[in-house]
Amino acid sequence: MPYLPHDEQTNEYGLSGYGASTYGDAFADVYDEWYESLDDADFVRFMAMHLNTHCAQRNALVLELGVGTGRLLAQLIAARSHQDVFVGVDSSAAMLAVLAKRGLPSCVSTVCCDMSRDLPPGSFDLVFVGYNTLFNLPSEQSLSVCLSLVASRIQPDGFLIIDAVVPNDADGDNVSVRSITADRVVLSISTHNRASQHISGQFIEFSQSDGVRLRPWALTYWTPSQLDTIASAAGLKLVDRYATGDGQPFTSDSPRHISRYQTSR
Ligand SMILES: C[S@@+](CC[C@H](N)C(=O)[O-])C[C@H]1O[C@@H](n2cnc3c(N)ncnc32)[C@H](O)[C@@H]1O
Repeated sequence: MPYLPHDEQTNEYGLSGYGASTYGDAFADVYDEWYESLDDADFVRFMAMHLNTHCAQRNALVLELGVGTGRLLAQLIAARSHQDVFVGVDSSAAMLAVLAKRGLPSCVSTVCCDMSRDLPPGSFDLVFVGYNTLFNLPSEQSLSVCLSLVASRIQPDGFLIIDAVVPNDADGDNVSVRSITADRVVLSISTHNRASQHISGQFIEFSQSDGVRLRPWALTYWTPSQLDTIASAAGLKLVDRYATGDGQPFTSDSPRHISRYQTSR
């Protein structure tokens, strides 16, 4: 039994009224407070090590897909001693406005665009996409266009690096409490459609002073082997895959994967 009546979830995201900038626009004001301490510093170490190996003697040109508030980019810049050039794309102007206030160095520029429609020109040494951000794309078609664009923007010896969860098909619909204080409660509600591989949800904030605030999100998830198939058709071949950024081997039980792809041109 679907959580919503069929006619209310016919949008390609599985959530009526949802679009490419909805997530960023809804979360920009709380993103850093809620997610600054995420446990993915190993992904940044992995990319820094990758750049230190592959761009040891030169400054790298790096593109982040779904850069958001610049959380990962700021850590990567701090981890590199080279004068790299960074471009971040995001579909949400609200997210990029928060990034602009972060005070990142002048080697960083941003572009507001939907990564499944366009990417900035360039011949990048590294394109990366962290924290399940690739799953923000709503369909195989949009993922496929995005990966084809990436394949056309990386150097022949450049890489795409992805950090994503391995989806757990057993997860069902969920209602839980994210946080609670004397005058505020944030509930998390989500629904999982296994057939379409969509998970959509809302963080619902009730507070004495501000009333009710909804923060919607929608993911379309892919298993590692589905990703490899779609990437391969887009001109990208898997180079290697790890369970963590510290190089733990990837196994069939790993809950997360960090995967490197190169062009198959
Ligand atoms: C989960 S956040 C990750 C932000 C940042 N990379 C980080 O790890 O903190 C996902 C970001 O992707 C952006 N996004 C979602 N769909 C997008 C699309 N189609 N094109 C570009 N950016 C998109 C959102 O606006 C949001 O900033």
